[in-house]
Amino acid sequence: MPSSRTEIAGIEMQNPTILASGILGQTGESILRVFKEGGAGCAVTKSIGIEPRDGHGNPCALELDNSLINAMGLPNPGIDAFGDEIKIALKSGKPVIGSIFASTPEDFATLAGKMEDFGAHAVELNLSCPHAEKYGLEVGTDPGRVGDILAAVKSKVKIPVFSKISAMVPDIRGLAKTIEASGGDGIVAINTLKAMKIEPEIGKPVLRNVYGGLSGPAIKPVGVMCVFEISREVKIPVIGVGGITTGADAIEYFMAGASAIQIGSGVHYRGIDVFKKVNAEIIKFMEAHGYDDLSQLIGMARGV
Ligand SMILES: Cc1cc2nc3c(=O)[nH]c(=O)nc-3n(C[C@H](O)[C@H](O)[C@H](O)COP(=O)(O)O)c2cc1C
Repeated sequence: MPSSRTEIAGIEMQNPTILASGILGQTGESILRVFKEGGAGCAVTKSIGIEPRDGHGNPCALELDNSLINAMGLPNPGIDAFGDEIKIALKSGKPVIGSIFASTPEDFATLAGKMEDFGAHAVELNLSCPHAEKYGLEVGTDPGRVGDILAAVKSKVKIPVFSKISAMVPDIRGLAKTIEASGGDGIVAINTLKAMKIEPEIGKPVLRNVYGGLSGPAIKPVGVMCVFEISREVKIPVIGVGGITTGADAIEYFMAGASAIQIGSGVHYRGIDVFKKVNAEIIKFMEAHGYDDLSQLIGMARGV
């Protein structure tokens, strides 16, 4: 049988499916479920900040054709309350990545240091949330700021540091190069796309926060394009995310240059075992096309 095992910055994964940040990663128990019932090869936690945060008021999520818009606003218990959750998640024996957000290099470094102390296998810097005031996209569009954040985090921790970026940046290839030059160990692309919905009957935006982030199948072509562009520019591994619900979606990302993929909204569309289903579909595709190893697919479409 073909092997879909993969490795990113020294982190070994039995299969290439990863739980994306913000979906079922709020507690250690929910992460354990994603491994046991879901079959994920790795999981990323909800993004965690320095202080507890409530997030935005309701309505904070809605469903459209082929997509979702959410404006959760990074609700989280704060880093000091999260150590126990990581410890529970680690009982799985599988790799767990701690996602963090902040607005300064110092705070990013503090958060990364705590995630390392808790035992996380890597940290993912959320540089791309489109609906959280001074955090996320506001921080991650400026390569100079991203370089300063990476320098601070890399001098603090030994575990791999992944940078999660947005498609909504002026020069994604330039940003990717800055991340590589600043010692980043991998790039995660993409976060949700800034979006909104207006209700014609009332003439007002639907979301309390007005703006939210678009996710689900509708954003897959954007994510695939970003992974393709980034992976042609840098040598560090790229993790693809955005609109993956099937093995065929994942294969597109691998062929664009991703070494692993994350699934978020796919949990809504296909259930918690979407990871098992997607991995089985990847293996079936490999079998049908005579591939033995996932590495044969990675970057296949880049040589155009
Ligand atoms: C409800 C919800 C909450 C999310 N929260 C976070 C978060 O805390 N941190 C983060 O980096 N991304 C967050 N995301 C973005 C996802 O991790 C992912 O990048 C995005 O949804 C695209 O993938 P998908 O189409 O598979 O959902 C969130 C997405 C959704 C739908």
